[in-house]
Amino acid sequence: MSDELSEQLRDKLTKVCICKGINRKVIKKAIAVGAQTVEEVNRATGSGSGGCSGRRCGPKIEALLQQASGDKDLQDF
Ligand code: FES
Repeated sequence: MSDELSEQLRDKLTKVCICKGINRKVIKKAIAVGAQTVEEVNRATGSGSGGCSGRRCGPKIEALLQQASGDKDLQDF
């Protein structure tokens, strides 16, 4: 299995928002189409609206935003 396929599979299987059952693939797609803050990701995907009110998924979404931002910064070089 290629690394990219493996990463895609892991994104699909990894729940970022456990309360709402939203996987990492959905969060990454929201970021890819323009969400720049946790609130924007929450609005686009419904994450953060579960029983914990985003206490569990908020930091994970923030990390994915920072990771995406870092990836974009690297592409600028
Ligand atoms: S894990 Fe996302 S709202 Fe609880």
